[in-house]
This record gives sequence, C-alpha cells and structure tokens, in this order.
Amino acid sequence: MISRRSFITKSSLVVAGIGLAKTGISTNSFQNNKLPIVISTWNHGLPANEAAWKVLSAGGHSLDAVEAGVRIPEGDPKVITVGYGGIPDAEGKVTLDACIMDEKGRAGCVTYLQHIKHPISVARLVMEKTPHVMLSGKGALEFALDNGFKKEKLLTPERKAHWKKWKKEKRQFSNKINIENQEIENHDTIGMLAIDKDGRISGACTTSGMGFKMPGRVGDSPIIGAGLFVDGEIGGAVATGSGELVMKTLGTFLVVELMRNGMSPSRACEEAVKRIAKKIPDYKQHQIGYIALNKDGEYGSFCIQPGFNFAVKTDEKTELEDAEAWLKKL
Ligand code: GLY
Repeated sequence: MISRRSFITKSSLVVAGIGLAKTGISTNSFQNNKLPIVISTWNHGLPANEAAWKVLSAGGHSLDAVEAGVRIPEGDPKVITVGYGGIPDAEGKVTLDACIMDEKGRAGCVTYLQHIKHPISVARLVMEKTPHVMLSGKGALEFALDNGFKKEKLLTPERKAHWKKWKKEKRQFSNKINIENQEIENHDTIGMLAIDKDGRISGACTTSGMGFKMPGRVGDSPIIGAGLFVDGEIGGAVATGSGELVMKTLGTFLVVELMRNGMSPSRACEEAVKRIAKKIPDYKQHQIGYIALNKDGEYGSFCIQPGFNFAVKTDEKTELEDAEAWLKKL
C-alpha cells in the first residue's frame, strides 16, 4: 500500500523521468487552450501524450495522434493494466479491449482480443476496412492476423508469477481497482482525447481490463458511448475504472450529451459521476474517472474516489493533474 504523499512523489518521479511536466491539483476546467491539445488518463498518460504530440505538433490528424499515443502504454510491460504485460484473467489469459473514434463519428472496436500487442491499431482497421464497428475474440484475432499483425505472447513472466500467486492464495476476484491507498499500481485503462490544429477531435481507449476477471468478461473500454464517445461538433469523453458502472450508465455518451446541452467538460464529468452515485448502490467501493474535452479545447475531469489523475499537453503545458473527487465533496 502507498500513502497519498508517496503516490505524489511517485508521480513526480515519473514526471521527472520525462523531463518537462509539472504536477498539480486540477482547477477543473480550462478555457481558451490553444490547439492542438491532448489529454489522457493516469500518469501513464504522460509518455503517451508525448507520442501523440509528435503527430499533433507536426500538423497531423488527431486520429493518428491518439493511436500513436496509446500504443506507448500498450507496448510497455511496466503498465500492467494495458496491452502487453497486462494482468491476465482468472485462467491466466491476457485478453484486451480497445476502441477508437474520430470527428466524423467513425468508430472501431475489438473485444476479448488475445496475442496482439496493439489492439488499438486493430480497432482502427476494423473502422477503416470493414463494414462493422466491433470484432470480438477469435474473429478479431483472425482479422488482425490477416492484416499483418504478429501473434505474440502477452503474458510476461512477472504477470505469470502474479497470477500463480493469486491462484495459490485462492483469492477471490476483486473489483476494487485503482482506489487510493488500496492498490500499489495506481492506474488502469488509458483513454486519450486529442484535437489537432485543424480542430478535428479523436479519441482512443485501451485496456487489459480488470485483473483476474472472469474468462470472457468485457468491460466498458471497447464500448462506444461507455468507455469512449466523440462527437466532432461537441467534443469527447473517456472513462477509466470499474467498467460495469460506466456501462450501466453509458457514461461517456452522457458526458458528451451534457456538454451538448451547455455544460462545461468538468461539470459534465461531475454529473456523470453523480448519475453513478444515484443509480448504483455500492458505487463507493469503486473508482471511476472521467475526462472530457470540448471542441474549443476546454477540458475537465471528475472521479468517485480521490486518487485519479490525468495528463495534459499543449504548446504551453505538460502537466499531470489530480481530478476532483465526489467522495471528497459529499
Ligand atoms: N475500465 C476498464 C475495465 O473495466 O475493463
């Protein structure tokens, strides 16, 4: 277990590692940001934003930026909640969920995908090369292999040992993820939103899902309107945390619709968290974090439990910010 203080120190070390970023409590909403801009969930968002920024600062499309960005944690075995090196399911299989969406409303998703290191790139191909939105399991794997992706072993020796220990201890599945002071690894899904210099917004969301989940379980991350939603005329939102709560309230669709009706990104995220608090009796046992970005580059966030942070990059700032938490406001 880690304390709040040591977590901040740890965040700062991550930040120091990439050089430029500052940390701070989110003052919750920022107006008049110059474009381009990229935001993403958790501290693994810092290096992901750097990769996205390479595309954005060269004048590229936000869709290329979000794909390039989230591929960083997907390929990093130290990030144990996304892609390669992710925590397996109860049977020791690493199964991945991802989706991507652009300003035109085009979308692609993969669920329960095994053996492929970069599910986000498969999701993009589903969007671009098929008449469908979502491919799952064996079909998604065959589609990936047919399109030149390599079959790889995603379970690292560290995660295999972790899983064996979990089995030996006969521990039950726990959905208590990402709650401050309860988990050493304070991160989860990476969700990213970017607007390029031409004002085009795209989003991506990718995860290995809950550690030791039931075989076959799929969470919110690959579900359009749950883990990610983008509307080019309004903005976008992504979610992280216990996916079941986001799925039951169609959280990111709700955030975007609230922004459509005039709310700021931060107020819209807060309302979506409050909807969970109203509808889901045991919500205090879970963490959910939302981040949102409107088409003008204003962003915001909100979460259930203290402990959720997100990374922001513009021409003027490289920051890790703590989201405001509902359980602190109650
Ligand atoms: N938000 C990730 C999951 O529930 O799978």
